[in-house]
Amino acid sequence: MPRKPIIAIDGPAGAGKSTVTRAFAKHLGLIYLDTGAMYRALTWWIHYKGIDSNDEDLIKPLLNNLDLRLFLEDDYKQQVWINGHTVTEVIRSPQITADVSLVATHRSVRDALTLQQKKVGRQGGLVAEGRDIGTAVFPYADLKIFLTATSRERAQRRANDLRAQGFDDCDLYELEKQIIERDNIDYSRAIAPLRQSSDAIVIITDKLSCQQVVQVLVNVFQDQFL
Ligand code: DC
Repeated sequence: MPRKPIIAIDGPAGAGKSTVTRAFAKHLGLIYLDTGAMYRALTWWIHYKGIDSNDEDLIKPLLNNLDLRLFLEDDYKQQVWINGHTVTEVIRSPQITADVSLVATHRSVRDALTLQQKKVGRQGGLVAEGRDIGTAVFPYADLKIFLTATSRERAQRRANDLRAQGFDDCDLYELEKQIIERDNIDYSRAIAPLRQSSDAIVIITDKLSCQQVVQVLVNVFQDQFL
């Protein structure tokens, strides 16, 4: 039997990847893998251990004993668990968001998490989202999508998400500045930088609702596979 498909969805922060990817995976009945949540969970663990996120030498030993698990619930919500702690909600906090791109620049971190992601994808049948899925994690993916939007639109979406989580005090200009800073780190890091794979289909999500983007993805999938 041929391997079930692997679909890679990459793009910058706040382009709507998580919501769209989850709905798309659910529609296709495939596993949903949010790789950003893995970098976020590790960042939380680094903070919990009181380690400086810049200090790769101190972070490395943490990677040897890392028990990082993602569970997909019936409603396709991904629960995140690290070394016995449930961190699903806390990894979305502004403190983690501010530090995660820096943690993701360390080679040892990327090697450890990429290996774990490749293991999840061994059997195929998943939709994975992140920054380097189509370029580094699953370069042989059956379908590659690059989702993007202007920094203003992405900041607006981040503000809506934060308000929904109870963080009322958010400044749109500040959020846009932070998004541009994170983009710069993600695009310019030495290892597996955020890149649009040459064989990726680009979708610009400005002014599109989540349902509309999912519909575009379903159409692209049907064109390619059915
Ligand atoms: O998608 P997100 O905002 O949850 O991702 C958090 C950070 O993790 C992002 O700033 C960069 C990093 N990341 C990465 O480097 N590679 C991935 N495949 C996924 C996320």
